[in-house]
Amino acid sequence: MLFTITSFLLFLPSLTSSSEAQTWIKAGHWYSVSQFPVPFIDSTLFTHLTYAFAYINNSTHELLITPSDEPYMVTFTDTVRQRNPSVTTLLSIWTGDSNFSTFYSMATQPSHRSRFIESSIQRARLYGFHGLELCCVKPDTSTTKMDTMGILFDEWRTAINRESKNSTRSPLFLTLAAYNLPSINTTSFPMESIRRNFDWVHIVAYFYHLPTMENFTGAHSALYDPSSNVSTDHRIKEWISRGLPAKKMVLGLPYQGYAWTLLDPKASKIGSAATGPAITADGAISYKFMKSVMRCDGEKVVYNSTYVTNYCINGSVWIGFDDVEAIRTKVSYAREKGLLGYDVWHVANDDNWVLSKAAQADEKDPRNKRHPLLVILLPIAATVALVLVSATWYLRKRARRNKGEFFRL
Ligand SMILES: *[C@@H]1O[C@H](CO)[C@@H](O)[C@H](O)[C@H]1NC(C)=O
Ligand SMILES: *[C@@H]1O[C@H](CO)[C@@H](O)[C@H](O)[C@H]1NC(C)=O
Ligand SMILES: *[C@@H]1O[C@H](CO)[C@@H](O)[C@H](O)[C@H]1NC(C)=O
Ligand SMILES: *[C@@H]1O[C@H](CO)[C@@H](O)[C@H](O)[C@H]1NC(C)=O
Ligand SMILES: *[C@@H]1O[C@H](CO)[C@@H](O)[C@H](O)[C@H]1NC(C)=O
Ligand SMILES: *[C@@H]1O[C@H](CO)[C@@H](O)[C@H](O)[C@H]1NC(C)=O
Ligand SMILES: *[C@@H]1O[C@H](CO)[C@@H](O)[C@H](O)[C@H]1NC(C)=O
Ligand SMILES: *[C@@H]1O[C@H](CO)[C@@H](O)[C@H](O)[C@H]1NC(C)=O
Ligand SMILES: *[C@@H]1O[C@H](CO)[C@@H](O)[C@H](O)[C@H]1NC(C)=O
Repeated sequence: MLFTITSFLLFLPSLTSSSEAQTWIKAGHWYSVSQFPVPFIDSTLFTHLTYAFAYINNSTHELLITPSDEPYMVTFTDTVRQRNPSVTTLLSIWTGDSNFSTFYSMATQPSHRSRFIESSIQRARLYGFHGLELCCVKPDTSTTKMDTMGILFDEWRTAINRESKNSTRSPLFLTLAAYNLPSINTTSFPMESIRRNFDWVHIVAYFYHLPTMENFTGAHSALYDPSSNVSTDHRIKEWISRGLPAKKMVLGLPYQGYAWTLLDPKASKIGSAATGPAITADGAISYKFMKSVMRCDGEKVVYNSTYVTNYCINGSVWIGFDDVEAIRTKVSYAREKGLLGYDVWHVANDDNWVLSKAAQADEKDPRNKRHPLLVILLPIAATVALVLVSATWYLRKRARRNKGEFFRL
């Protein structure tokens, strides 16, 4: 009996600290085009760091790594692990824009799929990554294409598991960075296959309104929108209603904003008339640039809690973006909805890690409540010893299962 109580007391803190803490994903992308020095990444702020990007060779259908990326890939994992030895690294494979046709021409041919899959695993292992992310697929109106995608995902997972058994290493993580809508018109992503094969889906929850597309200011990453369905909250619900469990999703957080030129600087709310992008060709502005050059601080910045967005007004320039309030609220939202965590695009755009720290500091983090929880639980544990005999057995069994789930992630 004494042994049981003691082991239970020893066991409780480890249950609250390790399993809770480790299953909350705090991921970030490093984009090589940013040239941000990898040793400067504060990897202690992340559980996962993703290298962007590898591509797909349009003639061989193997993974394509550009000569300029290769030296960074070789050292990426070792470098980010110097500050945080437990950070997990992934290699992201870009399929977007003009690369979509390459992606489908790979996916439709069994021999092409196999070359892609084998080369992706081989390269990930070669460079020391712990996983692969497929970025950034969109649903297509062709059901044949969606079925094909489902087959690719099945084969990829099978190959990853086979390689793991053969190499006796833990399987590579496999994740999907997906467009925020799971369906287009009547066709949907191959949801069953996605649920089965990916460790999680990173929902790219921004780009809702762009100055190149619309002549009114918009919250490009609105959590809510009282006047339309174009919002993260609605799209997360859409994924859930299509069959993806909340605990398979991580919420994408943007470290960039979009700048519009106002038609009339006095009309500067969300939805005011504008005449296209400002500052850059497409209006995209990094958080760092907003803070350091545009001086988006103090009275120039408005936080709108209805939409959960910030905007900065500088003369006739209007920039919609996520500042610390929006980031914090979104992370709380992700926890409340039972999501698996968040993923930021991209780390070089942060300003002295202000946003990444804000994302960590949300008060619903169970680790911040660990001590009060134990204060309540420990006396109860000591008095209700009889119940503990069976509870210990039960919880031990559960803990093993939780760990198993974590390592599979
Ligand atoms: C694609 O692979 C072919 C054959 O190995 C190679 O000649 C070509 O340079 C590759 N394409 C790129 C863009 O690297
Ligand atoms: C294949 O990729 C190369 C390098 O990116 C590009 O120059 C070429 O136009 C592509 N070919 C096709 C058919 O898309
Ligand atoms: C794929 O995308 C990259 C980056 O946008 C581009 O440089 C490359 O030419 C594209 N390749 C193909 C085959 O379209
Ligand atoms: C298993 O691994 C060995 C050595 O790493 C390799 O030669 C062999 O092809 C692998 N087999 C399979 C089925 O992947
Ligand atoms: C979806 O359906 C609408 C209305 O039928 C149509 O206008 C639109 O082009 C379709 N979208 C695509 C991508 O086919
Ligand atoms: C928003 O979505 C709901 C269902 O989720 C639908 O009933 C409603 O018509 C949509 N509203 C708009 C403005 O599209
Ligand atoms: C957010 O902006 C909308 C549109 O301008 C406005 O109607 C709403 O009152 C604002 N919400 C807050 C909390 O300021
Ligand atoms: C926005 O307004 C500008 C100037 O009035 C015009 O040139 C542009 O075509 C408009 N863009 C869109 C997407 O309507
Ligand atoms: C507005 O932005 C410019 C950069 O485009 C900056 O130089 C200027 O200081 C800003 N204006 C104010 C009033 O902060």
